[in-house]
Amino acid sequence: HTRARTPEDIRNAKGGTPLVSLTAYTTPMAQMMDAHVDFVLVGDSVGMVLHGLESTLGVTMEMMILHGQAVRRGLSKAMMVVDMPFGSYEESKEQAFRNAARIMRETGAPAVKLEGGVDMAETISFLTARGIPVMAHIGLTPQSINTLGGYKVQGRGAAAGKLLADARAVEKAGAFAVVLEKVPQRLADAVTAQVAIPTIGIGASAGCDGQILVVDDMLGLFTAFKPKFVKRYATLGADGSEAIAAYAEDVRARRFPAAEHVFSDVEPAA
Ligand code: KIV
Ligand code: NA
Repeated sequence: HTRARTPEDIRNAKGGTPLVSLTAYTTPMAQMMDAHVDFVLVGDSVGMVLHGLESTLGVTMEMMILHGQAVRRGLSKAMMVVDMPFGSYEESKEQAFRNAARIMRETGAPAVKLEGGVDMAETISFLTARGIPVMAHIGLTPQSINTLGGYKVQGRGAAAGKLLADARAVEKAGAFAVVLEKVPQRLADAVTAQVAIPTIGIGASAGCDGQILVVDDMLGLFTAFKPKFVKRYATLGADGSEAIAAYAEDVRARRFPAAEHVFSDVEPAA
């Protein structure tokens, strides 16, 4: 694979080696993961992770476009998907098309992601019929936090039927993949078996067709809270605090800058 991956490549990965995905919001983070992941999501989690917002509800089109442009510059192999922010697609399928097209035009993303199942199926089919590949996102949909009543596991007990219906609806509408967030393992496995498009799990099951995590969570950079489904592969937040404390001590003790960091008044000999 030397060319960049496409939504079709992602769709065709159903049932094969699990798809690997992370979020990214900046050029250097995108560069760090480009060789290792199949696709990168510019998630609206950017609002909480980089901007200190309490939820994803305050994220704007402008924020998604700015971060999408930054991520695009850091990728050459992995595919990029950009989240549609709250309020940019729910009003009508026409509104969704207009904003999805703007995201694609201004960021170069070949696909968008939006939250919703049965309720968004008509919108997903409107977009896919008009040249916009859509990744769906069902289960815990953080943009609906105020109607869901908290970041709870979705699809337990009698609610399993609704999750299955959502999965089938987005598949039928033409989504090329579907994110399953915070659903019981057995239900995630059942959905994965019943739909022909890849399921991308976050807090779901190792049996999904792929996995995604928020990169700042798995690097230990975002530590305001840690969902059960996050595995920390590094402690960059703690490492960063230590480094900053060491810098502060050095400056106060006049140990930094040292001889190798300062300039003499004559050009050194070559
Ligand atoms: O915004 C985000 O980071 C997401 C993933 C967690 C799926 O939607
Ligand atoms: Na999101």
